[in-house]
Amino acid sequence: MISGRKEVTESQNLQPLRKYYVKPAMALPRAPVVSRQSPSAWWQAPRPAGVPTLPYRQWTSSGRAALWQAIRLARETREALTPGAAGGVLVPTYHPRTLIAPVIAQGLRTDFYPLTAEGLPDLAQLDAYARLDTFALVLPHYFGAGRSLAGVRKWCTTRGIALLEDCAHALFGQAGERPVGHWGDYATASLSKFSPTPEAGLLASATHAIAPLRLAEAPWREQLKIAKDLWDHYWLASQADDDLVGLCRRADAGVVPLARLEPDPVSTVPEALVDGHLGGAQHTAPWLAHLVAREATSPIAAAQRRKHFATYAHYLGGVPELQCPVPAPADDSAPYVYPVWFPEAGAATTAYRALRGAGAAVFRWDRPWPQMPQLEDDFGGRWAEEVLQLPCHPTLTQPQVERTALAVAALARHCL
Ligand SMILES: Cc1ncc(COP(=O)(O)O)c(C=O)c1O
Repeated sequence: MISGRKEVTESQNLQPLRKYYVKPAMALPRAPVVSRQSPSAWWQAPRPAGVPTLPYRQWTSSGRAALWQAIRLARETREALTPGAAGGVLVPTYHPRTLIAPVIAQGLRTDFYPLTAEGLPDLAQLDAYARLDTFALVLPHYFGAGRSLAGVRKWCTTRGIALLEDCAHALFGQAGERPVGHWGDYATASLSKFSPTPEAGLLASATHAIAPLRLAEAPWREQLKIAKDLWDHYWLASQADDDLVGLCRRADAGVVPLARLEPDPVSTVPEALVDGHLGGAQHTAPWLAHLVAREATSPIAAAQRRKHFATYAHYLGGVPELQCPVPAPADDSAPYVYPVWFPEAGAATTAYRALRGAGAAVFRWDRPWPQMPQLEDDFGGRWAEEVLQLPCHPTLTQPQVERTALAVAALARHCL
């Protein structure tokens, strides 16, 4: 239990609280499920400028598979110019492990670079992290906020380093002077974040023609499994429940029950590479995934995402201790999550565990790649613990988003 600001141990914590802790029947969905919207609404809608409208595009089974291919293409280009000179990839300190695994899977070195408080590379420092054989830099549009990458684009061009624009969180919309996906030599997208499909990704480019990847069709087992997954996720979302109102009450009373977080099964490097996290890289997405992934560009879903982002901002933007490290989304974009930045890791951990225990839809990238070094003047390392990601997907209802935001505000009052 966390009472006031004092932290006590896990066993002390859980025992007296069993009676307070009501486990929700099912947690709120963390990704969108099949909507009741008529498919014609999104099928016929014009596609917004972004990754799906780039001139060169290839489907993959996931965002990480697309990243794997983008790294391979950049490496081949460097090797064609200077054989043996492609050894390392610049990767950000704030990441999910699925962003790093495609580098390791190709036997390449990860050159971690630090991030500014805006989630961009610090250009003044970047040279210190690149080596002679560094041939690519991966940069995500964190949280779905499309921002100008003009500075880093110039930095990469001058040094002959390929910019791999990771659009897993921002599929379309404007990113400064250009649309999302138009800054990188290659852009990669993860369609499972914007549509009901559990898998599907895109590898695309504004400037480089991409030869056919010649991926095998997804095996029949996968083709059938996706239909079951779509149904299962839909059913689970319809049963979703939470105890966020109870959590608010308890936080205000100074007694917060914490969920015991099960460790992510992907705990070591070899496991991350073989347990299916890159397993689908050799085949394309199942045909049903191609079909439902079209929903990713639905303008109705994008508007709903902006509305959810605005709701979180309404309730949390005024809490003095909490920050949102990105600007409000532009009118043409579809934010992935609302990032809420706690000023210290202990409070963020308490809030995260309490929210998970009450069934909230919330993410935290708190398991950086095991070999990641601690870098100076780096906000990325801090974000791993201090930033909670609150999803904006349209399967969440307005009341669910409001309850989540109110619970975060109550936890901030309680912990800070
Ligand atoms: C920034 C970023 N890049 C890449 C990926 C990998 O995408 P996928 O899960 O489709 O493999 C993710 C997934 O969470 C991500 O958040």
